[in-house]
Amino acid sequence: MKEQLAKIRAEALAAMDGAQSTAELDALRVQYLGKKGELTAVLKQMGKLSAEERPAMGQLANEVRAALEEAIEVNARKLEEKALEQRLEAEKLDVTIPGKQVKLGHKHPMYIALDEIKDIFVGMGFTVLDGPEVELAELNFDRLNAEEGHPSRDWSDTFYFDEDSRVMLRSQTSPMQVRAMDTMELPIRIIAPGRVYRKDEVDATHSPMFHQVEGMVIDKNVTMADLKGTLNTVVEKLYGKGTKTRFRPHHFPFTEPSCEMDVQCHKCGGVGCPTCKGEGWIELLGAGMIHPKVLEMSGIDPKEYSGWAFGMGLERTAMRRFKIADLRLIFENDIRFLEQF
Ligand code: PHE
Repeated sequence: MKEQLAKIRAEALAAMDGAQSTAELDALRVQYLGKKGELTAVLKQMGKLSAEERPAMGQLANEVRAALEEAIEVNARKLEEKALEQRLEAEKLDVTIPGKQVKLGHKHPMYIALDEIKDIFVGMGFTVLDGPEVELAELNFDRLNAEEGHPSRDWSDTFYFDEDSRVMLRSQTSPMQVRAMDTMELPIRIIAPGRVYRKDEVDATHSPMFHQVEGMVIDKNVTMADLKGTLNTVVEKLYGKGTKTRFRPHHFPFTEPSCEMDVQCHKCGGVGCPTCKGEGWIELLGAGMIHPKVLEMSGIDPKEYSGWAFGMGLERTAMRRFKIADLRLIFENDIRFLEQF
């Protein structure tokens, strides 16, 4: 038995000193000191010894057990230290590595132009309104004097959500005129920028989604002269002093009289070139005096109040402002393009 104990001790200590992980060490503890362990098995045979042999053997067995327990403890500590060292090594921070460059975004030229437009109008006492892109046909058409059967309501032009054409993607920001009249106190001075949608094919000047800025003033004694004066001021602030505009008669169901405003071509100065398709002028917006019927439908007395409104194409305005030739550049979001502004 003495030899047996010595053998266990030598083997166990060697194995424990060589353990590579706490799991391995734990397995050794079970192998030698566990209920079915090798040392335990020897101890179980103590009963077979004579009364004289027993105390000495008992003492020896206890010594072996103590030695093994100590070896486990010492090795456990060693392994923990080793693990910690490895972790610190792995997590080592190299403060000399150059940092990753943080890329800042860039404001889109169209939104730069929009901010300028907002500033100009806010400076003249206008409020900026926001409204839904999913709109009722009632507000986009009926309340703007475009009744059932009006060509602009056609399914080939408009994105409807339902069979009976009641809900749609707004085709213009003009329903914001109605929303303003329905919710605001008179007098009203608002602009309302936002996205609008039409079933157009994409080309250098068209997109099924584009932006407009609606503008509207309703007050007593408001005339077409106010409209022209305001828009000329805005154009000069946007494009520089002396920029020429021209107003042509036009038709919109919700304004009477109606007009379109052109601005002189920045490329050729009015002579005619490919940018203005030989016209010398570029169309920027539709406008007019608000139709008395539209005022009436919103409960405003046209004998007491009058108003004007305009709807400006924002992409076009930005293209003129930054001399951009193709509408598609506005939507492609190529960083090399955007960074130029
Ligand atoms: N909503 C018209 C359009 O999209 C523009 C417009 C707005 C005209 C306000 C007159 C008054 O073409």
